[in-house]
Amino acid sequence: MKGRTSPVLRRVVAGVVAAAVLVPVLLLWQTSRVPGQFSVTGAGASERGSGPRVTSLDGHEGHGGQGAHTAAGVSVDTLVAPPGPADVQVTLTARAERVDIAPGVTVDAYTVNGTTPGPTVRAVQGDLVEVRFVNAGVPDGATLHWHGVDVPGAADGVAGVTQDAVPVGGSFTYRFVAEDAGTYWYHSHQVSHEQVRKGLLGALVVEPAPGARPAGGPAVARLLDDAVDVPAVVHQYGSRRTVQGTVGDLPVELAPGRAARVRVVNTDNGTLSVWVSGAPFRLLAVDGTDVHSPAEVTDQAVTVPAGGRADLLVVAPADGSAARVELGGSAALVLGPQGADAARTRRPATSLDPLSYGTPAPLELDPGTADRSFDYVIGRAPGFLDGKPGMHWTVNGHTYPDVPMFTVAEGDVVRMRIDNRSGEPHPMHLHGHHVVVLSRDGVPATGSPWWVDSLEVGDGEFYDVAFVADNPGIWMDHCHNLPHATEGLVAHLMYEGVTTPYLLGHDTGNVPE
Ligand code: C2O
Ligand code: CU
Repeated sequence: MKGRTSPVLRRVVAGVVAAAVLVPVLLLWQTSRVPGQFSVTGAGASERGSGPRVTSLDGHEGHGGQGAHTAAGVSVDTLVAPPGPADVQVTLTARAERVDIAPGVTVDAYTVNGTTPGPTVRAVQGDLVEVRFVNAGVPDGATLHWHGVDVPGAADGVAGVTQDAVPVGGSFTYRFVAEDAGTYWYHSHQVSHEQVRKGLLGALVVEPAPGARPAGGPAVARLLDDAVDVPAVVHQYGSRRTVQGTVGDLPVELAPGRAARVRVVNTDNGTLSVWVSGAPFRLLAVDGTDVHSPAEVTDQAVTVPAGGRADLLVVAPADGSAARVELGGSAALVLGPQGADAARTRRPATSLDPLSYGTPAPLELDPGTADRSFDYVIGRAPGFLDGKPGMHWTVNGHTYPDVPMFTVAEGDVVRMRIDNRSGEPHPMHLHGHHVVVLSRDGVPATGSPWWVDSLEVGDGEFYDVAFVADNPGIWMDHCHNLPHATEGLVAHLMYEGVTTPYLLGHDTGNVPE
């Protein structure tokens, strides 16, 4: 028997099926659209983690835009450095300019005080730093973020979260105490994927307070005593890798037997492999924190994640030749007497593993008694992001802007598991805090305490990290492969009761990513 459906019935059935598929898809599309303006504190669901400090909390949900704490909250604006005269005062002025990076090679760039990278800002540990930022021609507006510095909340420089983007002709003053010696950098956090790429950035070096003891031990202390300080900001303009704005080799005069502290800053979106030809070296510091008892290494590379820093101690060979600090193989610092060089070496097959490098030292927090634990699971799933269909990054299963607000109380010892199941590596960067690595893939850290602000989390890897919630504010916690951040790989760490008057969204002009 042959069934025969009328054309009308067929059309009705097809219509019902289409609607059953289309309506949920339309709904997904609709809800994925980023509002014209919204507060970051109400964008994603508040996550309070698990642990002893969690149960005592009120359990308000941040979802829906009515931040439960808004009325009683402390504005991020009020989280500022102490008043008083600054020890370091600088004006940094950003412009859009054409810049010659090599003979005959000119690029569209953003300069700071006329150069890219901008000037290295220098301070001594404990200094109150005051930077007046002037936008003299960055059309989308701009800000300065102090990458790796645990600045007070109001000085974090994130457009739409801690301030409005500074329009052309405007200015903004950042004030913070340089509490920790080390290598840091500044960059715009407005349309940052484009403004950082075009060079709106520079180094910040905080020298140790006089009399401070380096964690490297007596041998290192002796070498550091008269070491030459060499900032090495690495940046790619188009396809050309530069160090301190120079394509190729940058010579640095260094007498035989003298040491240099090379401060490598990776400002690009991918990892940077650093190794030394012609001399051994030590990895002195990672992301601004000294390594405890760093051993001499040869034949190993150091992998610097996007946004990360590595300080290398290199001694010019006694025979008058040079040591080459190879920066990815296409740029280098040549340290030695004038005219000296060394044979280039290829990238060593192995990379130094900070998980086991150096020797242990007491931690200033006890991860065993964490008040709160979070998961930061990075995934990738089909769906809509701001109305666009595709495969999108997810954080704990959610797509931007509905990504977690990891909510803590001041004083909490916090653990976080960063678990990358997304198919690609991600250099994860938490603002305003340093986190210590406890383990990778369950293998405990055995070397020097490994404190980071920029951590490369490979695909399929998971890291357990811990930190003390000692810096109230609203802090981005995002991928520093900046195009990934524009694709939604952004979450926030939020302190209970902290609010922001600034807004994100298409209508606001604030686009931190
Ligand atoms: Cu170096 Cu949120 O950035
Ligand atoms: Cu990423």
